Parts: sequence; structure tokens; C-alpha cells
Amino acid sequence: MTGTIRGPHLARLLGNWHARPGRRRSPDYAALAGAVRGLLVDGRLPLGVRLPAERELAGALQISRTTVSSAYRRLRESGHLTSRRGAGSWTTLPGGFRVAGGGLWTAADEPDVIDLVHAALPAPPQLAPAAAAALPQLARYADGPGLHPAGIGELREAVAAGYTARGLPTSAEQILVTNGVQHALDLLLRLLVPPGAGLLLESPTYPSALAAGTARGARLATHGVDPATGWDDELLLGALRQTRPRLAYLIPEFQNPTGQLMPTRLREQLAATGHLAGVDLVVDESFVDLPLTELELPPPVAAFDRHARVLSIGGMSKPYWGGLRIGWIRAPAPVVQRLAAVRVGVDLASPVLDQLVAVELLAAGGEVVASRRAALRAQRDALVAALRSELPGWRCAVPAGGLSLWVELDAPVASALARSAEEQGVRVAPGPRFGVDGTLERFLRLPFTLPVAELTEGVHRLAVARSDLDRPGRPQRTAPMLVA
Ligand SMILES: Cc1ncc(COP(=O)(O)O)c(C=O)c1O
Repeated sequence: MTGTIRGPHLARLLGNWHARPGRRRSPDYAALAGAVRGLLVDGRLPLGVRLPAERELAGALQISRTTVSSAYRRLRESGHLTSRRGAGSWTTLPGGFRVAGGGLWTAADEPDVIDLVHAALPAPPQLAPAAAAALPQLARYADGPGLHPAGIGELREAVAAGYTARGLPTSAEQILVTNGVQHALDLLLRLLVPPGAGLLLESPTYPSALAAGTARGARLATHGVDPATGWDDELLLGALRQTRPRLAYLIPEFQNPTGQLMPTRLREQLAATGHLAGVDLVVDESFVDLPLTELELPPPVAAFDRHARVLSIGGMSKPYWGGLRIGWIRAPAPVVQRLAAVRVGVDLASPVLDQLVAVELLAAGGEVVASRRAALRAQRDALVAALRSELPGWRCAVPAGGLSLWVELDAPVASALARSAEEQGVRVAPGPRFGVDGTLERFLRLPFTLPVAELTEGVHRLAVARSDLDRPGRPQRTAPMLVA
């Protein structure tokens, strides 16, 4: 359960529900049920949220209670609502609460296929010089065992300096180096979330966060991030207060997949509410180095943390290269010690040479990131232009940063489209991969990490796939994929 939504709030989300297409043919209660179902399936209404009492919603919508009552009954019949006498009604999904399976497809397996699955860049030209500069440094470590569970000192220093430069004074003792951001999240879940404990995530969110939570046996709950307007402060803070999950996982900078940037005020409220509700916040800053417009970034969420509730995670994968497998956690020094102890039971330590390469790359950071951002800006704009010209019925907000667009399709066909797209030689990650099963069928994530020519061709193939979608008897081909 992710809290309660009040009548006026649900009425706001429902908007013009009585004027939906096809509305004339259906009675009021069916239209209302359809609108609620639509919000749920699009991920705008969280799973497990308690809907307002019938009388309250009727008042907010200025309709009869019988209409609401019949709409709720219809939602119960379709499996989208569960009611218990005296306790209320909660949103559910007919198939239950599951996370879509991942896989291990990589673009290199099929070179003719355009990869619009991975939101990840190839290595920058500075990688080879950084590796060459790192190699001779290895001698300084070679006469010891080479095991540093919290990371080598010089990388911890460099990462801490990065936080300090962002206005968040940080010492090396507050940094634990990990094998990527995914590893950082997994370690935090191991330390803080026992099986069965609540984990609150955004919907949509980064698929491997859902997978990590599921793997640790957490009880997943979601709150919606709107593709156009971002976080719903009331729902998010309400979910923290009312359900008190053990941990909430958030991506405030250029959220994956919506690209939204969390405003300063909500960052401040989050830290305060997290403390009052006893909820730890894991803040994933994977994309913080990739703003694509001239904007002043809000302070890190941890800058508002007065009670050691915020655990920041970040890494090299998005601005530099995923193949390095270097990430980190920023936490109070005693928590870093505990995390290092957990980590010893998982993989002991990160490779020393890779950490040395990371130190060298971070030293060249300004130059690497500046050229990344210029290329990404051009690629983002080319992708948006290609979509507007080839698929004018699709909509997306142009993100101010990050690596991908979150595209709203003309119909809830994302999974079918992904299959059809494969036949046209382009792979995409359909919306449901970014939520719990059954939601987000109206969305597709499209990264702009490929060169412009490939993006343009990819969109062309997608347009063919979209028009081909309803052709009967199409051969089916499925292969697992990894969504980065
Ligand atoms: C929000 C977010 N966190 C973490 C990761 C994984 O990062 P890493 O490759 O460093 O494990 C990704 C990759 O897509 C991501 O989008």
C-alpha cells in the first residue's frame, strides 16, 4: 500500500474524464472506471494506493455516489481494485505485482540491429590515455594484497572532492567505491532492507532498481512521476508519511526514464519528511553530470539532510563509460564502514587498476563531460525532430538533461511495438519494463546515445513497425534484453 489519495487530488488527476474519446457510447460509471484504469495503467496513479471513499470522490467530481460505487464495482471485477469492508479500496493489477524479467542481449550480438535499448555511451577518447597513465601507478599497490573494501584512498578523495565542489562538503571516509551504481544500490538494499520490508520507487523507474528490490525480497510500492510535470509532491510525501517504507529510491537529476529534474523545494521537503517518517532515502545521481541546457542545478538532496537519512549513489557509467564498472556511495562514515563489511561478503573489493583509471578520468572530467554534453544535445534534438516528422502522433517532453526521451505513444501498444520493431531491425525498451507488470504500455524510452544517422534510421524503422503492428500473422521473435 502506498498511502491514500484524497478526492480532490484524484479528481485533478482524472481531469476531463467525462469527455474521453468513445465516451458517448458508455455510461458515466464505465467512463469513470475506464479513466481510473487508464491512470493506473499509465503509471500516473500508484499501485496499492487507497482511493477516496465513494462519497468523497462523488463530492469532488460532483456526481452521484451511485456512479462512483458502480465504477468501483467495475474496477473490482476487472481486478484493478481490491476492497475490504471498513478499510477501503486499493488499486491493484489483474496479474498481481510483478517486475518484468530482464535479459542479456547486447548490441554487439546483432550488428545490423539498431540499439535503442541501452541509454549508455561508448567510451570517450580520453579512456585510453587515462588507462595508459594509470598502469604505471599500479606499482604503488602491487606489493600489498590489493584488497580495499571501501576503495583506494585516492579515488575516494577524488569522489569526495566532486561532492564538495557541488556544495556538499564530503570527506574520503564518507565514500565507498563500488563496481557501478547498480552494485551500490544492491549493497544499500542488503544493509538496510530486510526481506519483506517496504521499498518505495518511482513509476516509471530504472528497471534494474525494480529488479534489485525484487531480488532482496523487498515489498515494492510505487508513486507516479508524470512525464510532463514530474513528481507529485503530495503523493510522494504522503506515501512516505503514511506507509513509512524502510527505504525510498529516487533519481532526482534527469530521472530515468522521464528526464525530469526535481525542484529544490521538493528536495528540501523530501529530506525533512524522510526524517519525520523514519525513511532512508537512496538518491541515485547517475545523470547529474549531464545537463543539456544552461540551467543551474538544484543542490543535491543530501545538502538538505540534517539527520543522516540521505544516501547518495553515483558513478562513472553515464558520463564516462559503463565498461569501467566504477560507482560509489556517499554516506556517513560509520555507515560506510558497515557497507564495507557487507561488501566483503559479496565481492571483497573493486579492481585497483580500474579505480586508478577512474582517478585519471575524473581528473580530465571537465573536458570529457563538456564534449559529451555537446554531442548529446545535438543527438537529442535530432531524435526529437525525427519523431515529430515520422511519428507526429507520439508526444514527449524534451528533457533538460540525461540520455533519453520518454515517449508517449498514440495507443497502449508498447510491448507489441517492441516486438514489431525487432522485425524491422531496431530494439527498444517498452514502457512496462520501467514499472511493475501491466503498467506503462503507452510509453517507450528512446535513448539519444547513438550518432544522428542511426537515430534517424531507428525512428524510420519504428515508424514502419508502428504501421505494421496490426498486420495479422506476423512472425514472432523474442530474445532477452538488458535495459541500461
Ligand atoms: C538510474 C540508474 N542507476 C543506475 C544505473 C546503473 O549504473 P551502473 O552501470 O553504474 O551500474 C543506471 C543505468 O542505466 C541508471 O539509469
